[in-house]
Amino acid sequence: MSIVEIKSLPVQLNDLLKVFPANAGSEEQTAVNHIDLEIKAGELVTLLGPSGCGKTTTLRMLAGFEQPTDGAIVIGNENVTNLPANKRDTGMVFQSYALFPHLTVYENIAYGLKIKGLKRNEVNKKVKSVIELMQLDELIDRQPSHLSGGQQQRVAVARAVVTEPKVLLFDEPLSNLDAKLRVYMREELRKIQQNLNITSLYVTHDQTEAMAISDKVVIMNNGNIEQVGTPTEIYKKPISQFVANFMGKANFLKATVKSIDNGIITLDFEGYTMHVDNKDDHNFKRDNIVHCMARPEFWYVNENGRYQGKVLKAIYFGSFVEYEIQIGQQRITFEDYNHISNGVYKQDDQITLDIRKDTIGILPYDKNYDENNNER
Ligand SMILES: Nc1ncnc2c1ncn2[C@@H]1O[C@H](COP(=O)(O)OP(=O)(O)OP(=O)(O)O)[C@@H](O)[C@H]1O
Ligand SMILES: [Mg+2]
Repeated sequence: MSIVEIKSLPVQLNDLLKVFPANAGSEEQTAVNHIDLEIKAGELVTLLGPSGCGKTTTLRMLAGFEQPTDGAIVIGNENVTNLPANKRDTGMVFQSYALFPHLTVYENIAYGLKIKGLKRNEVNKKVKSVIELMQLDELIDRQPSHLSGGQQQRVAVARAVVTEPKVLLFDEPLSNLDAKLRVYMREELRKIQQNLNITSLYVTHDQTEAMAISDKVVIMNNGNIEQVGTPTEIYKKPISQFVANFMGKANFLKATVKSIDNGIITLDFEGYTMHVDNKDDHNFKRDNIVHCMARPEFWYVNENGRYQGKVLKAIYFGSFVEYEIQIGQQRITFEDYNHISNGVYKQDDQITLDIRKDTIGILPYDKNYDENNNER
């Protein structure tokens, strides 16, 4: 694989703004609101967030399909903000694959190189090496309509990679595939990206996909970046309820700060004394009302445990049992992965739970995430 050579370069988005002007039926729309983002050379960074939060717009600005209202885009040392798309050396893989239906697999992959004016034997060599890399050997004479979704997606990636882009861009590339193939393909994409060591920006609204393939995840909300971190950092230490909810399931328990000392915050939660490791940057004070963020799988059954609960609902999912548990006036979701030894509880059973103090986060109280009107 020395024929296709990728230069690994860092990418910077500096104070990037995109405002779509008002038109007939719609108001002015700030799609991306002054974001800063760095993608290190060879890194795969994922933009994750709900529909309309600005993921595609960010990607399109980097590709050059959309002109920023303000801010700069730098690839390597080059400010590319005012360069047209075809001068930026980015490769894009779309959700819809966007293959040419009347061309064969081979011709689809070769197309970009021909446009660039490469000599025939150069084109041939590069296309062949990418075909080998993507394991498309047996499909080269087929047209896209005679390929499965997964195969079409491999052709789309091959077509993007063959031009040796400095940055590879993916916009929800797997969302047309069924669940099993999606899992398989995301591992394939990650392998290829790492083999080529190609700087990549990946857009998805699937949290597990983001966790599985990313070096870093960027959580976007309403045109803004809420948090950037490794999947583990974001899962374990979300900085807001929005992030916690987007990166998995979370319980938000209303509690009151009783004391703060020796790295431990002591809370009152439904009359129970709850200790939490103090890793917060919020400067909480005694008597502050807060939200404890506790993931459903971080609770565990303990006969001598602290928290007395009543089972409201139990759903058996095979690998775990999901419970809705009433503790005092609040409800929590508890996922028991240990149900083989613990047994399965049923509605109205009493249960005693515990949770480790290093698995709880503390966030400022937000009534929108109150347990009693939290739709989960
Ligand atoms: N060409 C456009 N003209 C006007 N508004 C636009 C245009 N493109 C996007 N928007 C608006 O900008 C915002 C961000 O859109 P964008 O497509 O970036 O979202 P997204 O995060 O990719 O969402 P999805 O997950 O649904 O693909 C939305 O409010 C959208 O309506
Ligand atoms: Mg989009």
